[in-house]
Amino acid sequence: MTGINYSERIPNNVDLSGDRALQRALEQWQPNFLGWWREMGPDGSQDFDVYLRTAVSVEPQGWAHFDYVKMPDYRWGIFLNPREEGRRIHFGEHLGEEAWQDVPGEHRANLRRIIVTQGDTEPASVEQQRHLGLTAPSLYDLRNLFQVNVEEGRHLWAMVYLLHRYFGRDGREEAEALLERRSGDVDNPRILGAFNERTPDWLSFFMFTYFTDRDGKFQLSALAESGFDPLARTTKFMLTEEAHHMFVGESGVSRVLQRTCEVMNQLGTDDPARIRAAGAIDLPTVQRYLNFHYSVTIDLFGADQSSNAATFYSSGLKGRFEEGKRTDDHRLAGDTYRVLEIRDGRLAEKEVPMLNALNEVLRDDFIRDSVGGVQRWNRVMDKAGIPFRLSVPHKAFNRQIGTLANLHVTPEGEAVSEAQWEARRHEWLASPEDRAFVASLMGRVAEPGRFAGWIAPPAVGINRQPVDFEYVRFN
Ligand SMILES: [Fe+2]
Ligand SMILES: [Fe+2]
Repeated sequence: MTGINYSERIPNNVDLSGDRALQRALEQWQPNFLGWWREMGPDGSQDFDVYLRTAVSVEPQGWAHFDYVKMPDYRWGIFLNPREEGRRIHFGEHLGEEAWQDVPGEHRANLRRIIVTQGDTEPASVEQQRHLGLTAPSLYDLRNLFQVNVEEGRHLWAMVYLLHRYFGRDGREEAEALLERRSGDVDNPRILGAFNERTPDWLSFFMFTYFTDRDGKFQLSALAESGFDPLARTTKFMLTEEAHHMFVGESGVSRVLQRTCEVMNQLGTDDPARIRAAGAIDLPTVQRYLNFHYSVTIDLFGADQSSNAATFYSSGLKGRFEEGKRTDDHRLAGDTYRVLEIRDGRLAEKEVPMLNALNEVLRDDFIRDSVGGVQRWNRVMDKAGIPFRLSVPHKAFNRQIGTLANLHVTPEGEAVSEAQWEARRHEWLASPEDRAFVASLMGRVAEPGRFAGWIAPPAVGINRQPVDFEYVRFN
């Protein structure tokens, strides 16, 4: 059953009408979701016709249908990858047992926590991005922002379906609470730190979709290995949507760099003041934004040593990235892993049991993956003949979680005193002046084919449409 039923109020491929009680409960949650979307979704966007893709099947080829949609009419629904017959748990203490189609009683609390934590990030990012539509640098970018937003809304549906279907009353209460927390709210914030940070401008948005949506990719990949089969199937489909979000980030930063390099070559300068005066974002500022988003995002993987991470793995709830491709015993009982600590004022490695270090393992997988895109960004400067290179800061830089929290470590990985760190922090992290400058460039460009002066047009449009296609129609 891979076709999606769009004739029901909630589009789905899980035979929702076959379970009346569940259908009713989700149909009661639906207006609350729409109320949340109107209140916290993209600001002032309700009447726009947006060229969006909608899932029409879960087949890898051609699942998407593109057309103009008013965003509140987007068909958010429940789409799971098809069930694999005979699927078995392939890691942890239950290795070799049949995958669970229901929640095992002893793992119920942990599974609920995992699903709620993932679910909470989805509406959070929509809230963080809600004002960006007012300052989109083009219709193409505005459309991409809205595409990311509606899909994050759908990811919330994916987690809420699991809560309603498998966790009874507790699950329904958690589903309500997901609509009540608010990003950055002092009294009722979102669960994870990075999802309470502001995304105030489009450079932040591109960094966020490059780094923080990539955290999403790694978390979802680990959950796609889960012994709880419905969680594995739903996260597999979410991953197909996530790829576009990271594309928006990678290509967005790339286009910013391209424009900056053009301005630098036209003026024959690398003086940030002159580049800024010409309306482009100087490369050191891009580096400082990168440092911020990278360090805040790697905190999302959690403490470097965590008994919860060990439990989630051993009990078969959350695997490693690409668990199936690894050649060890998939139990890891006697294995070790190296994590960082401060010893005699310096960063040093120490070996710890791998099961306890699985957050660090996932973080290191993320780091390897994100460095690849930074190298692709550097090709833009290389092609333009500009010697500046971006890099990711040291893993211990600006951390708030785990052993490395609140140490003072430079982007190069040198431990320094608090005073030294404070004196130099604005060389490394975007200062209020940097942010004010970037903010000063933001202003909506709404004519098809036109782009703000701080960003280059993309090489190609969406769904093979031209770059000057009318991706959003204002009414
Ligand atoms: Fe998501
Ligand atoms: Fe995403």
